[in-house]
Amino acid sequence: MIRLQASADRRQFIQSLLAAAAASAVITPERLLAGAAPADWTLGVADVEADIAPRALTPIAGRAPADFAGVLYRNGPAKFRRSGSSAGHWFDGDGLIRRFRIADGRASLAARFADTAKRRLETQLDRIVMPGFGTAAGEGANIGNNDDANAANTNVRLLGGELLALWEGGSATRLDPETLATEGIKTFRDDLRHMPFSAHPRIEADGSVWNFGGNGKVTGLWHLGADGRLIDFAVLPLPRASYFHDFTITARHIVIVLQPWLQTRFGFPISKTMAWQPELGTQVMVVAKDDLSRRRIYELPAFSAFHYGDGWEEADGTIRFAGCLEADPTFGQSSASALLQGEYIAPPRAMLKQIVLYPDGKAVLAATGAAGEFPVSDPRRAEQPHRLTAHVTGYDGKGPFPHAIATWDWQSGRSDSFDFGADQLVEEFQYAPGNSAREGDGWLIGSTLNLKVGASELHLFRAGDVAAGPVASWRADVALPIGFHGMFVGA
Ligand SMILES: [Fe+2]
Repeated sequence: MIRLQASADRRQFIQSLLAAAAASAVITPERLLAGAAPADWTLGVADVEADIAPRALTPIAGRAPADFAGVLYRNGPAKFRRSGSSAGHWFDGDGLIRRFRIADGRASLAARFADTAKRRLETQLDRIVMPGFGTAAGEGANIGNNDDANAANTNVRLLGGELLALWEGGSATRLDPETLATEGIKTFRDDLRHMPFSAHPRIEADGSVWNFGGNGKVTGLWHLGADGRLIDFAVLPLPRASYFHDFTITARHIVIVLQPWLQTRFGFPISKTMAWQPELGTQVMVVAKDDLSRRRIYELPAFSAFHYGDGWEEADGTIRFAGCLEADPTFGQSSASALLQGEYIAPPRAMLKQIVLYPDGKAVLAATGAAGEFPVSDPRRAEQPHRLTAHVTGYDGKGPFPHAIATWDWQSGRSDSFDFGADQLVEEFQYAPGNSAREGDGWLIGSTLNLKVGASELHLFRAGDVAAGPVASWRADVALPIGFHGMFVGA
């Protein structure tokens, strides 16, 4: 295992996030939050101007079981524009951490921005200047390390008892789980300060955590105990400098999908440093957890992707996991930039598929025919075969955001879905385990943005009967833009 001291690898990580000084500033009108109903999909990328103090949600339909209790934490970008300057990409807004709490049939909401160095500087300058995934550095950008550009906007997870806002180019950000106040960046070990800790950690059945960090020809590989303490960190060489946002694990292996969207140079915006080279196909690298030098490369036709599902391994060594696969990276390259200017560039739709890696070295993609993003499965089935993958779906082609939630049943090949209709934008839903251990007996909980009334909503479904519609729904008195990821923590 390679230790990362003041090595070339470390410099490479940091260089990859140094500023390329160039003018940014896409001029867009400042959007005001909430109330301007009915709205179109651009309410999903509107700015939130201040933290949202804790408030009760109004029950609007159904009733949650009396014993259903817990907290849904979610994160997503919510401030993109300042005084005529704008982030250049949806992925680059300031992270707003949302906390939905449900108990005794009642629900409440609070939301607070991560207090990052980026946000502090831009508040002071009253301009968007820090570079990011699709944003160039503006005048006044100040980058000494990865975390100066950290937007803390992609995921929020309770790991080892700590609530962490996650990004993919720098450290996790520690938050107070009750007040959501920022406590500082998370440093797992002094020599790993500012090292990327990605937004998609994978959790093993025993609660221990694997994560990667940073792309290029190497990636960092983190292994934490269930208590959140660092077990080990390694630098993993990669066969190519693919961009990857997510990965998966099985009981014995780390699985990294290397799409042919390749980094060709360092600098910002990161999306502009990458070239789509479909003729190279997609590779899947499978690495043994107990011996990182043991690896196998599988070959697949070219596809682009952001998200994968939990993986598992069968007795004969066959590996299976879900992926939301796109024909090319148009969404990340250009659509997600245009969104902030109120423009919709239709990308190839992400389709839910299963990636199957056979022990004889053959790899196949099993199609479902279902469009889908944000694949989520029952966390109790991590590293085990599972039947159901929840995902958002229901795209109408008129805007970027989905209108429906569904589960795909890999055994029956059937979709169980509920369409909220054109007036609702649907965000990632999370599994909330029920009282029984049987998969599908639990709940799906998630939020939507109701464009008709200009307000965010919270909905609870039976995971095994999505088509029946929400068991309970609540409405907020604020509209929060569409977020990315989060987790449910049962009470
Ligand atoms: Fe993600």
